[in-house]
This record gives sequence, C-alpha cells and structure tokens, in this order.
Amino acid sequence: MSSEVSNGDTDAPRAKRAKLEDEDDDSDEAAISPATMSKVEDFLLPFQLSLEKLREVSSKLRKDLIRGLGKHTHRRAPVKMLPTFVRDTPDGTEKGDFLALDLGGTNFRVLHVCVEENLQKVLKNDSQVCAIPQEMMQGPGEELFDHIAACLAEFLESLELKDKILPLGFTFSFPCEQKDIDKSILIRWTKGFACSGVEGQDVVLMLREAIKRRGDYDIGSIAMVNDTVGTMMNCGYQDQSCEIGLIIGTGTNACYMEEMRNVKRVEGDEGRMCINTEWGGFGDDGSLRDIQTEFDVEVDRTSINPGVHTFEKMISGMYLGEVARLVLIEMAKKNLVFGGETSEALLTPDSFETRFISEIEEEDTGLERAQLILTEDLGLPAGPDDCEIVRLVCDILSTRSAQLCGAALATIANRIRNNRGLSHLTTTVGVDGTVYTKHPHYSDRLEETVKTLAPKCDIKFLVTDDGSGKGAAMVTAVAQRLAIHSKLLEDSDGDEEEDEEDEEEED
Ligand code: GLC
Repeated sequence: MSSEVSNGDTDAPRAKRAKLEDEDDDSDEAAISPATMSKVEDFLLPFQLSLEKLREVSSKLRKDLIRGLGKHTHRRAPVKMLPTFVRDTPDGTEKGDFLALDLGGTNFRVLHVCVEENLQKVLKNDSQVCAIPQEMMQGPGEELFDHIAACLAEFLESLELKDKILPLGFTFSFPCEQKDIDKSILIRWTKGFACSGVEGQDVVLMLREAIKRRGDYDIGSIAMVNDTVGTMMNCGYQDQSCEIGLIIGTGTNACYMEEMRNVKRVEGDEGRMCINTEWGGFGDDGSLRDIQTEFDVEVDRTSINPGVHTFEKMISGMYLGEVARLVLIEMAKKNLVFGGETSEALLTPDSFETRFISEIEEEDTGLERAQLILTEDLGLPAGPDDCEIVRLVCDILSTRSAQLCGAALATIANRIRNNRGLSHLTTTVGVDGTVYTKHPHYSDRLEETVKTLAPKCDIKFLVTDDGSGKGAAMVTAVAQRLAIHSKLLEDSDGDEEEDEEDEEEED
C-alpha cells in the first residue's frame, strides 16, 4: 500500500487512493466498474489531505502551542500546554521500589516496579489489571476512587506489601492542571469518562482520601503523570535522547521538553520542563472546521463531550471506527456499497470497531477478514467488490489519522529545533497506543509525514511497552532525584498575544 504524503503542493488532494500505486491493475479479485470507483473516490475526497493542507494544520498548531504556553492567552487556548513539573528525563542513576497506578481507559492497572541503578532498564515485578465497569466511568467520582483504592489494597495484599510505605507514580491520562508534581486538578474528562464531582478537583487528594477511608494501608509520596509523560520517561531510561512522548490509542496526545523561558505560566527561566500538550483539543475553537467532514461533525455531536477534543476525534481509536461506520452507512444509502443495503448491526453505534480497520488493512489476510467482519459481525450482503471498497475506506481514514498526527509531531520537532537554535535536531520519540502499534501501515505513514514536514529533524521512534506504568515509576524516581519545585503562576486573562520570541516558520 502506498503511504506517501501527497506531493502535489497544489490544493488538489490525491484523489485516487483506490488505485494505490503499487497495486496490480490486472488483479481479477474484484471488478468494480470505473463509474462506481469514480463515485467512491469522489465521495471520499474530503478525507484526503494535500501536503499544503497538512502544512496549514502544522502552522495552526504551531501558533496554538504558543497560545497555550502564554500567561495571557492560555485561558482561552484550545491546546492547553500543561506544565507537568517534570524537569528532567532519566539519567540512569534512578533506583528504588515503586508502586504505579495507570488509569486512562476501560482498564485500570496496578504495578509494583523495581528500578535498578545503571541497569538501563526498569524491572517490572508484578502487575494486576482491574476492569472499570461502564457505569462506574460515568458514576460518582468517589466510587471510582474507592474502586481504585480497593484494587490497590488487593494487589498489596497479594504481594504482602501492605505494611510497606512505597512512593507511587499515578498515571492519570486526562487533562490536568498540575499545581505541583503531587497536586493535579482535573480540567475535564475525555475518552468516555464522565464521573461526577471530579472535574475541578485534585485527583491526588481524591486518591489519598479514598485510601484513608479504607484505613488498611498507606502510601508514600505521589507523582502524577500523564500517559504521554510516562511513555517519554520509560523510553528515556533506555535512550537518553528521548524527549517527546506520543500516544495514539483510545485517545491521542503528546508531551515534549520545553525551555522553561517559554513556559510563561511557571516561575523560573532556567532549564526545561516537560509540557503535556493535550493536542487532542486542537480545533476546539473551530480552527479545523475546513478539514472536518460531515462525519467528523456527527461523531462529535453524538459523543459524550461535544465540542471537546476535535483533533482527537479525527484521529484516535475511540472514534476512528465510528467515523468509518457513518461513512459506510452513507455510502450504502448512495448505493456505492452492499447493493444499497444496511443492516441492524451497521446502524448500531460503535459496531464497527477501530481494530477492524487494522485487520482489514493487513496485506495478506485483510480482504478475507473484511468478508468475515462485514457478513458475520455486521450482517451485510458483502461481496468481493464491497470488501475492496471497505478496505479503501479504512485506508483513507487511517491515512488521514496518521498524517494529522505526523503533522502535529512535526510541529513539535520543529519547535524543539527552533528553541535550541539548531540547524539539525536529532531526537527520539517514545510511542505507545494500539492505533500506532497494531495497524500494519500507520507508523510508516506517520513517519513519512514527519519527514516531509520536519526535514531538518532526524527522529527515531521507540515503541515502549507499558510506558504509562513503568514510566510513572520513573517520574517518581526522577522527581526524588531532583526534588526541585516551582510555582504555577496565576493566569491573567487578556486579548493580546504573548510577546513571544518570533519563531521562523521553517518546514
Ligand atoms: C486524551 C487525554 C490525554 C491523554 C490521551 C491519550 O487525549 O485527554 O490526557 O494523554 O487521551 O491517552
């Protein structure tokens, strides 16, 4: 399959993804008529982004990163650029015994992690997964934290650790305003969570209180971590040039090491601080309206949090399958697939799972898998032509996702290079998330886009396993090593843009 970024610098997007360049024209598997194919291609055109559009996306994000960092502009900025109070990546001298909690999806994990000095790796001792029932994801917050405290108790009990007071790294993968490494206010829920009484509250305190309510064990210092930060730190233990963390899973987000002089909301100018960009919120001020399709608008409208995390809803695993489902319904209505039929299953929200996209795009097995998914899982009258067309839909949606993410990552890499006045930047990105790791072509497409939009940056991608668990322990360890604190300043609202350094736009 082709993965190139469209090289037409014009506004004509690459229209013919159907005839992917390296596919045999003489294949006799499906005989889609040229007229149908042309209609299918036209239908899918709004999902195809030209290089020029991707450059525009990157340029808009570049400005939004500055707005998010600014003292006067932060409050209304869609990309929140949250200071994490993580000031350094690991240097190999970290050591000790830690607990880690990881909450960010439908499962919640507890880990006991042992970090050995100079071993260049984190030894994961034990871990346990606890499910979070759907109703708990939208119930009272106290119940959620009681459930977490109970899982932790069970885990400590099983390891006979209940009497030990261990420091804890808490990976909480939602946008939080960190007042300090152990004080973190939830700004808003994302990714299907909507527990009451937590937004605006300090989640570290809520965890401590839940543990106190039980009274059967205690924990030491707590370091709060976003999953992007955990991923960067876990990767940073293996590769000390890792200074970007990237997640493309249920949600999408990135963090990176920013110069303190640019972090206007935290006092002090020396050194660097890791910034959790929360780039999922990019476009929440309407700046991406020109590339949102009617299907993106519909996915947003029917989501639990309309108007929030626009960029994420065009990219991540929680939404990609749903965009595909809506596209297929509309294509069926227009008689472009399934002989114009839909099915009860296809008309049911979330029935087209994001993992189907990865499976259908597999080179060798994809079409066979498509046949099974369409007929057995979704009860559709699908023939070989339909399978080809559905594969094309998957290809176009996942390519858009990878290219948007690539454009955003290029923006960050270019920013780091400009920050440091370098003619060339060599850096490593720690990556995690099933959309990136499970899709057969996603990483290639993303990397291709980054190369095109950040040609002066040489970027290595390191997939970390379990960054958000082990990485959280790393943050705790690094925080202990540094033990420096500084204060988050009050935002001052204002219409004027920050008097930021004038960064040249270099592509
Ligand atoms: C959502 C969350 C963010 C997290 C990302 C990936 O965008 O808001 O905090 O990092 O998902 O899990």
